[in-house]
Formats: sequence, C-alpha cells, structure tokens
Amino acid sequence: MNDTMFFQRDILTSDQFTKAEVGLIIEKARVMRNLVARQGTTDILKGKIMTALFYEPSSRTFGSFIAAMQRLGGGIIPLQGVVYSSVAKGESLPDTVRTFASFSDIIVLRHPTVGASHTAADATDVPVINAGDGPGEHPTQALLDFFTIMDRFGKVDGLTITLVGDLKNGRTVHSLLTLLSLYRPKRVNLVSPSVLPMPAERLQKAKQARIAISETDRLEEVLATTDVLYVTRVQKERFADLDVYERVKHAYVITPETMKHLNKNAILMHPFPRVGEIATEVDSDPRAVYLTRQIPNGMYVRMALLSLILCR
Ligand code: NCD
Repeated sequence: MNDTMFFQRDILTSDQFTKAEVGLIIEKARVMRNLVARQGTTDILKGKIMTALFYEPSSRTFGSFIAAMQRLGGGIIPLQGVVYSSVAKGESLPDTVRTFASFSDIIVLRHPTVGASHTAADATDVPVINAGDGPGEHPTQALLDFFTIMDRFGKVDGLTITLVGDLKNGRTVHSLLTLLSLYRPKRVNLVSPSVLPMPAERLQKAKQARIAISETDRLEEVLATTDVLYVTRVQKERFADLDVYERVKHAYVITPETMKHLNKNAILMHPFPRVGEIATEVDSDPRAVYLTRQIPNGMYVRMALLSLILCR
C-alpha cells in the first residue's frame, strides 16, 4: 500500500475499493483537513486541470470538487447544465469526454444514465471520477460518508447502521452499502417504503459479504439500537408516476420527537439536499452531522482523491 496506487486511476464504483484503499483515502483526507486548517491552500496540483462535466443538477458535489481542485492549486473547467452546450446539439457522451480529455488531466462526471462513467472511462485514457450516475452509484459521497462515520466512531465494525428513505433510487446508499460490506457492522437496517426497497442485486451482494441485514418500513423499531441514522431524499426525478412520489415523499420525517427515541450516542447523517426529511429544528442537536461534518468532509475526501490520482 502506497500513495501511488491510485495514480491515473478511475473512480467509477464503490465496488472497486479494497479495505486498504479506503483506509488510504481516509488517511489522506485527514491530511487534507489539517492542511486546509493550517494553510488553506497548496500548489501540489499546479498546472493540472479538472473538467467538472455535470449533466444533472448539483450544488455540493460540484462545488466541493471545484473547491478541492482550487485548494490544491489546480485549474478547472466547470461545466454545469451542459444542456446549454454542444450536448444540446446532440453530441454523444464519448465525443464530449474526448474533447475535454484533450483540455484537462481529469474528468469528473455527473450523468443521469447508470453506467455513464464507465462509458466515459472507455472513451479516454484521462482518469474519470463518477460524481453520480442516475440511480446507480455515487462513490465519492460514500467515501465522505464513511470518513464521517470513522471520525466519530473510529470503526465500522460492531456498529448498527440504519439507511432510511428512497433506497431504490438513492445512489448514495447504493455506494455506501457496498463500502460497508467491506467491514463487519453489527447490523445494517434498511428502512424504506415498500415501493422503494434496496435493489435485489445490491442486497444480494451485501448478504454474500455476510452482512447482517434487516429490511423494514418501521423506523421507530430500530431507532434505539441505531448508531448511524442515514436519511435520504425521495428522488422525485426518478419517478415515472408523480402520484406515487406524492404518496411516499414524506414517509419518514425526522423531527425533535424522533430524536428523543434515537440512541444518545448516535449520529444523524444525510447526503443533502433535504426536502423535508429532517426538520430544521433538529440541526442544533449535537448528533446531527450533515452540515457540520459531512459537507466539509466532502471537500477533504475529494482533495485526497484528486491528489492521489494526479500526483505520482
Ligand atoms: C445526492 C446525489 O446527488 O445523489 N446529493 C449529493 O451528491 N450530495 C443525494 C440526492 O440528490 O438526494
């Protein structure tokens, strides 16, 4: 295990990581956090350019990749809302990717199609980072979520982790479940409305990794024993029938009352944006780490990845 093992590699799925690799990224993210606290910026990526090619809306992921690259001294080509570019004229993803590969050293891609980052990676030798592929995966979010859990508990082994909400379409929980499957959590509770379960093949994989999993639609049953409560948004943009969305959109809402039943040493996480799943009154609860920990950790993890991929 050394710092060059990620050199020039793609980050496409949580499936690609070993435990040792996750450990290295977390270690590097801590270094980046200290660096930002001490000096704000550095120039280790001076002369390198990152294209952020975002075909789907994003605030945090886009912003934190841009900030990460700039804090490392690199340059950026920020393309958000690519509907306004040549893509609107019908350009294919491989053509767009090849174009920006010739301008830049790394491409960060967000796209509505599952597997789009693999298509992009096949089109170029420049490293590609998947920043979310439709209802597929979001591996860098899983890494920052994992980093946040490790920061608080120092381990995943023995913890009870509860994933709540739209487990069918939520790519962050898909990638996080895969990462957790590398470890020995005591239990993973999957809490969703019955129409939004974790996809069978992902469930199967976690079970093959011998993770103890419970599926339920009753959040209240698991609150007292949960160490990590990870809440997600119901992904409106993935629903063919908006009536179904309306029926389930507020299936789980975390309020100060819910927090009374949550284990007092637990943490409450959310990848954001939230659209009503967590009442703002909960934000001041010390167990709520979405604003205070997860979001800043996103930048440190992305700094870690960019430096590992671009520095020899
Ligand atoms: C998530 C995403 O885009 O998958 N947001 C993020 O990147 N932090 C979660 C979501 O949109 O619900």
